[in-house]
Amino acid sequence: MNRRNFLTGAATGATAAVALSGASAQERAPSDGGPDAQTPRIVTLRINGQPYELAIDQRTSLLDTLRDHLRLTGTKKGCDHGQCGACTVHIDGQRQLSCMTFAVMAEGHEITTIEGLAPATGDLHPMQQAFIDNDAFQCGYCTPGQIMSAVGCVKEGHAGSEPEIREYMSGNLCRCAAYPNIVAAVVQARDAMKEG
Ligand code: FES
Ligand code: FES
Repeated sequence: MNRRNFLTGAATGATAAVALSGASAQERAPSDGGPDAQTPRIVTLRINGQPYELAIDQRTSLLDTLRDHLRLTGTKKGCDHGQCGACTVHIDGQRQLSCMTFAVMAEGHEITTIEGLAPATGDLHPMQQAFIDNDAFQCGYCTPGQIMSAVGCVKEGHAGSEPEIREYMSGNLCRCAAYPNIVAAVVQARDAMKEG
């Protein structure tokens, strides 16, 4: 068994565990029928154009839902406290921190992760291509969040100059300090996105 198979099995087990613990939680549910946060709830999400329905503890973050329940592991967990930007996704086209968003809050909204950013043609998104062209990463751990945030930065109209890009990308930390290359990538993609 390789690491991927092991993790896949573990993820499946985690989902099953949620269902099992849900059964016992229901048994422990207050007799007055009041809300029980531990009782799994059916959540319907639309991610990268695909519908998903799953039973999760309603306190589960969107980040953990993506990574642990749906195996969309392109979105990264850095701090899990809203401080690093590694978990950035788009919700209705706006950049959001998925670690600070409950999955239930994203119901009825269109979620896009790094896996769904590129067009269906098979080409890379201009921001992905720009990160490659400008060598805008070293270890790459922050990169999905950087790219999702950078697309948001351009679409918001906050990529007019290098200082402005630095300011509006300041919520995305890079421990490898690839910042100059990231800014160069955003400049390149900004111009390519205008042309597109
Ligand atoms: S993991 Fe969400 S901001 Fe760091
Ligand atoms: S490339 Fe390593 S943390 Fe950014």
